[in-house]
Amino acid sequence: MNQFEVVCEQLKQTPKTWLVTGVAGFIGSNLLETLLKLNQKVVGLDNFATGHQHNLDEVKSLVSAEQWAGFSFIEGDIRKFEDCQKACSGVDYVLHEAALGSVPRSIADPIATNETNISGFLNMLTAARDAGVSSFTYAASSSTYGDHPALPKVEEHIGNPLSPYAVTKYVNELYADVFARTYGFKTIGLRYFNVFGQRQDPNGAYAAVIPKWTAAMIAGDDVFINGDGETSRDFCFIDNTVQANILAATTMNDEAKNQVYNVAVGDRTTLNDLFNAIKVALAENSVNYQKDVVYREFRAGDVRHSQASIAKIENHLAYDPKFKIAEGIQLAMQWYVKNLK
Ligand SMILES: NC(=O)c1ccc[n+]([C@@H]2O[C@H](COP(=O)([O-])OP(=O)(O)OC[C@H]3O[C@@H](n4cnc5c(N)ncnc54)[C@H](O)[C@@H]3O)[C@@H](O)[C@H]2O)c1
Repeated sequence: MNQFEVVCEQLKQTPKTWLVTGVAGFIGSNLLETLLKLNQKVVGLDNFATGHQHNLDEVKSLVSAEQWAGFSFIEGDIRKFEDCQKACSGVDYVLHEAALGSVPRSIADPIATNETNISGFLNMLTAARDAGVSSFTYAASSSTYGDHPALPKVEEHIGNPLSPYAVTKYVNELYADVFARTYGFKTIGLRYFNVFGQRQDPNGAYAAVIPKWTAAMIAGDDVFINGDGETSRDFCFIDNTVQANILAATTMNDEAKNQVYNVAVGDRTTLNDLFNAIKVALAENSVNYQKDVVYREFRAGDVRHSQASIAKIENHLAYDPKFKIAEGIQLAMQWYVKNLK
């Protein structure tokens, strides 16, 4: 058994109460599904800014009635301190996912991104500290590496942020560190690298690349690549991300706290290779996409290459990313074909 399996067994023996903010979103609803399947109690907080009721409905359909009864939902807003206080009451572990994602959204509306991602974060951090929760794990971002050229990315070396979104995620890390220093409230930040998988939203102007392309390919529409397609990313299947959250929330190792960790696989895939991988996986699900990619201008705020070192999270939290990109793409495509076709 690896450490994650050991922790899951322990949680089943001694269930805890978790707060998942952003629970109606992509990552939040996957955390909810795993936690309920481990018979945990889960409080969820979301204002449906970018999340959906249908994500919660799908989780309901995937767990038993008894497990679903362990879930209580608060429709609320992290920009309101009282909502954060209500949500944190009686909670053991906080997984803070609620934020406005997307680099282009933050460039279009930096004020909205700032309000949710910085003021909302500070509300959550303060409410969780006051409630005396056992742990607070939050969604940080690989965007914090900004213009730092080194590959792979190691946690200690960051560059200048390239977007308002990246600023907000870096400020989260600064606040988290200051809360450890000033109040002794130690948290863990997880710098996600391009998470993908079931329930990632394919709709809207700010959809992430994999769901956006997949939806276009299923519909037979054009697929656009910003730039020459040799831009690369460390794509990480959602189940690895869920594992990282559960390991971070439950760690008993004090030295592992007040830290940030890369959450990725440690591989690099170009957009051209990604397009081909999706095309092949869709064909295996009877969707045959015939068009060529359409190349267009590079997009402001995008970093050229991204690849994580995952040594720190492997060493401190025994993270073991089981799902490499190929397997993740296969599983994700099965879900999209079933749900979009
Ligand atoms: N998906 C990725 O690749 C990725 C990469 C790096 C970091 N992240 C971070 O991970 C977290 C989850 O991202 P996701 O991909 O699941 O996005 P998502 O948009 O699917 O989920 C975010 C959720 O937060 C909710 N939310 C937004 N503003 C809120 C507010 N003011 N009050 C309460 N709820 C609010 C949304 O309604 C949504 O359900 C975010 O913090 C994001 O910045 C994601």
